[in-house]
Amino acid sequence: MAENGTFEIIDRDGLARIAKFQTPHGIIETPGVMPVVNPNIIVLSPGEMRKLGMQALITNSYIIKRTPELAAKALKEGVHSLIGFDGPIMTDSGTFQSFVYGGIEYSNKEMLDFQKSIGSDICTILDIFSTPDDGFSRAQYAVEETYRRANEIKNDGTIYAGTIQGSIYPSLRRRSARIMSSSAVNYLPIGGVVPMLESYSYANLISAIHSAKMNADFSKPIHLFGGGHPMFLALSVLAGVDMFDSASYIKYARDDRVLLLDRTMDLSGLERMPAWSPLADIYTINELRDLAKEERVKALATHNLFAIFSEISEIKQRIAEQSLRRYVKGKVRSHPYLMDAYVKFLGYKDVRNFESFSRKSSFYYADIEDRKDPIYSKLRNFCIAEIARSDERIIIVDDALVSPVLPPESDLVHLYENSTAILVKNWNGIPVPIEMWDTYPVQQSVSSRSGGRSNIIASLSRIFPGRQITLMKDRRGFKAPEGNRRFDLEKVRMIARYQFSTDRSSTIFPDDCAIRTSRKTDRIRTVSYGGELIATLRASDGFLTFTAAGAKLLDTALTGMKCRVMVSDESREFNLQGKNVFFKFIVKADVDIIPGNDTLVVDQEGKLIAIGKATVSGKEMRYFSRGVAVDVRSGLGKPGN
Ligand code: GUN
Repeated sequence: MAENGTFEIIDRDGLARIAKFQTPHGIIETPGVMPVVNPNIIVLSPGEMRKLGMQALITNSYIIKRTPELAAKALKEGVHSLIGFDGPIMTDSGTFQSFVYGGIEYSNKEMLDFQKSIGSDICTILDIFSTPDDGFSRAQYAVEETYRRANEIKNDGTIYAGTIQGSIYPSLRRRSARIMSSSAVNYLPIGGVVPMLESYSYANLISAIHSAKMNADFSKPIHLFGGGHPMFLALSVLAGVDMFDSASYIKYARDDRVLLLDRTMDLSGLERMPAWSPLADIYTINELRDLAKEERVKALATHNLFAIFSEISEIKQRIAEQSLRRYVKGKVRSHPYLMDAYVKFLGYKDVRNFESFSRKSSFYYADIEDRKDPIYSKLRNFCIAEIARSDERIIIVDDALVSPVLPPESDLVHLYENSTAILVKNWNGIPVPIEMWDTYPVQQSVSSRSGGRSNIIASLSRIFPGRQITLMKDRRGFKAPEGNRRFDLEKVRMIARYQFSTDRSSTIFPDDCAIRTSRKTDRIRTVSYGGELIATLRASDGFLTFTAAGAKLLDTALTGMKCRVMVSDESREFNLQGKNVFFKFIVKADVDIIPGNDTLVVDQEGKLIAIGKATVSGKEMRYFSRGVAVDVRSGLGKPGN
């Protein structure tokens, strides 16, 4: 069993991740939502909530401590017996009450000692709540005082939650995330956001999440205090939130409000229960309205909690198939302010570092909003840079001459090989060179016909003034500048330049390398050099994977570049033999490592020892201590390598 407080990533889609967080009472799989349970009024029993999908819950240690009967029972039997739940329980500290009443009668230390003595799985520091209306200096005080309190704890095996405050000020959120990450806490809630959620200030909220996430320790779960509404869950997860808690399921139930997947409705205005609701088969809408208050609250709380957990299931499935962005894109259309938050999120360029070159699911291009997708921007920037590399004539191949899914036709390849021109097609506004037509997302995409395809001639003329640009509408009789080159070789070189941001692709694939294509599909399969296999072109997404022999060429080409993982001497021999690299043996991970991409593994002297696929980005690699960092394909110490 993993040590308490360890967080291990199972699957990912950009910043979103499915992970396991180890607590003394079991594993919490993220993303997840902890229902808030008031120890004085238990409406749904933990057993009932577990049936709806609950794994963990949160309760308030301040309420327990100041209620003598509850405190006595909790101290004697533990909080798990008090609540009647043997799974993970997080306790909050009374911060909110301190904010509302201007203080509480206990110190931070007293609250933490109490949480520990009742056996809480995640104990929360008595942080200082700050609201979006707070001025800078007040918000700054909340950040600094919360940090001071975090420093009152010792590394004693307990899991502590230390809240990131900072109100609406990105600089304070960033600082708070950094200092709280450097303290002994191993769980990082983002606090002070309930007023933003209640006023639908989603743009402020996404800014708070983003500033916190990008500066937090990636190996610690990020929790959004109070953020459990199904409307906002998917966007928050996309921005990197792992956990949520929700009191809304019960608060809304008391007010006869029904949580739907994209809004909240009054029971009085609802004509029918949605078919997916657990209540749909039990009550008609009138029967539900006619229930006695207590019974109705319980029924609606059941429904509301089910709505929340259904949304979490969908989000997890989306992460697994790497289509969370697509899901969020639809979701944010349910409220104009959610759309504002999404547009703000799309503007964050640093999110790109966490994205792979390809996803398991097809790239959907529906409209110009999709141009903000990191995969789209990466491809566009690359294609423009490639076209700028030479001053050759640009030939735009008319759509009618190219298949959206098949490799370039042989007559186009023939034209390419006997010319020096740059042949491009218009892929949703990007002039994509012919060498990239089989690579994700170009070939693995579904594009709307009304998705705002720009006039590619006009945009190329703007970017490259004075360059000769020709539209090729008919292959017959078309004249291009004469030349002599190999399509297959130039293709693997261009893909290598894309994957590794290098212009030394002829070092990776020398002139005399041999390229084998599939007889059935005509697609490139393998590249060999000097009789040795050096690389394979993955059929699923058109990217290169390297063998040990190829890794040596790659290592030479990428001299001086920041794309390596350095491992300790303890790990060296295992990796040389082709075993995976574990996070805990990493001495240094370069910033330019891209998740899913081939990565060079070196020893402490900088000597190449293995190659494999990075499971996370270089930035994330520095934080984790558990799990596989590089899925090694070949070790250089194996006989024959
Ligand atoms: N519950 C909702 N917001 C907060 C917060 O900022 N801090 C704590 N400790 N609990 C909360």
